[in-house]
Order: sequence, then structure tokens, then C-alpha cells
Amino acid sequence: MPWYQANDAGWNPQWYEWYFRRVPVGAAIRARETAAVHALVAPVIGAEQHVLEIGPGTGQYTIWLATRCRQVTTVDASPEMLRYLVARLQRASVTNVEVRPGRLPGPLELDGLYDGVLAVGVLNYVDDVDAALRTLVAALRPGGWAVVTMPSRSLEGRIYQLAETLGRRRIGLYTVDEARDRLQRAGIAVHRVEVAGLSRGGVTIVLAGLRVG
Ligand SMILES: C[S@@+](CC[C@H](N)C(=O)[O-])C[C@H]1O[C@@H](n2cnc3c(N)ncnc32)[C@H](O)[C@@H]1O
Repeated sequence: MPWYQANDAGWNPQWYEWYFRRVPVGAAIRARETAAVHALVAPVIGAEQHVLEIGPGTGQYTIWLATRCRQVTTVDASPEMLRYLVARLQRASVTNVEVRPGRLPGPLELDGLYDGVLAVGVLNYVDDVDAALRTLVAALRPGGWAVVTMPSRSLEGRIYQLAETLGRRRIGLYTVDEARDRLQRAGIAVHRVEVAGLSRGGVTIVLAGLRVG
């Protein structure tokens, strides 16, 4: 639909950082999401792993990943976000992260198979989530881990959806069961699910699982 922005358009990294660091509601949502993502990634990440992060944005999770594994490859659709991330990694003297352009549902230009894939806040914007999940699973070695988020079909999720609509972004909302089923259908055996946000229904469903086969 022409009124909505393309996935790679209109991202403003400075505004994004300001909202999630300085605006109290943004910072509170971010703190809860970060706690859930760290809790699900920490048990499966390993020092010798090569991890793929899809949709790293400004790098909220990238630097954290880089301190916990051998190599991180990141893929993002937005040139503005990629430029910001490269500069941030240089400032932080992080040398084990590779930054590439790419867009779900793919195909993505990747080298080989990864030990784990992290995708936080990116499936939100993809029209064909099942195709995007198939691309994500195809990038994983058998038994490799995936931690992904999807927006919750809750009151908080609907408020988020309205805010995104005003910003000309279309997002999908999911129940926990729908989100889990989609991952399972794509070939991920889901072993843990958390819901993060300011309310009981939360705004973000965080799912962890392992590639089957
Ligand atoms: C909401 S931000 C999340 C960034 C980061 N993961 C975080 O949690 O702070 C979404 C990111 O996904 C990227 N993105 C959106 N749609 C995408 C797509 N179809 N393929 C790849 N990246 C996409 C955007 O450019 C942006 O950097």
C-alpha cells in the first residue's frame, strides 16, 4: 500500500536512540525487552559461535552479542541505521561485527550457516512473516538457536500499532500461540517464551528455540 513506508525507508537512528534512552516510557519498555532478550539468549550463546543478527538498528543488542561470541554478522534494510551502527561500532572499538545490507523476507546474501540468529523488532514490519522465518531458519545450522520477537496482540500492542500507523508503518500483532505456531511451522522447536512490556499482555513476545533437523 503506497501510504505505508517501505521497510528500508524513514528510519532515524538519533530519534530512535532518544526515544528509547530519554523518554521514560520508551526506556521502561526497552529495559523490560532487554531483560527478556538477554535471559533467552544467555543460555544458548557460546564464545566460539558465529551469530547472525537481523535488523540490528542502532546496535542495542549488537555490542552485547559481540562480547559473548566470536563473530557477529548483522543485516539491516535501512542505510541510515547501517551507517549509524558502523560509526557506533568504530567508536566502541568493536572489531568482530560485520555489517551488511539486506532485507527480509529475503533472500539474504550470507556466507554459510550460523550458530544462532537474533531478530528483535524486525519481524514486526515484514508482510510475509512465514517467508521471513523460513529465510531465518535457512541461515541456521541444524540445532542452531533462534531468538525472535513479535508484537503482542494486547492492548499495549494495539497502542504500539496505532503509533506505528501514524508513522506510516504497518505492523502485525500476534497472540503467544500464533507466534509460537509460526516459528514451529518454520522449523524451530520453541522451548521458551516471554512477554515483555508495561502491562500483563505486554507489547513484545520474545521466543527462543532450536532449529529442528
Ligand atoms: C524497531 S528497529 C529494531 C532495531 C534493534 N533490533 C533494536 O531492538 O533496537 C527495526 C530495525 O529493523 C530494520 N528492518 C525493518 N524491516 C526490515 C526488513 N524487512 N529486513 C531487514 N531489516 C528490517 C529497520 O531498518 C530497523 O533497523
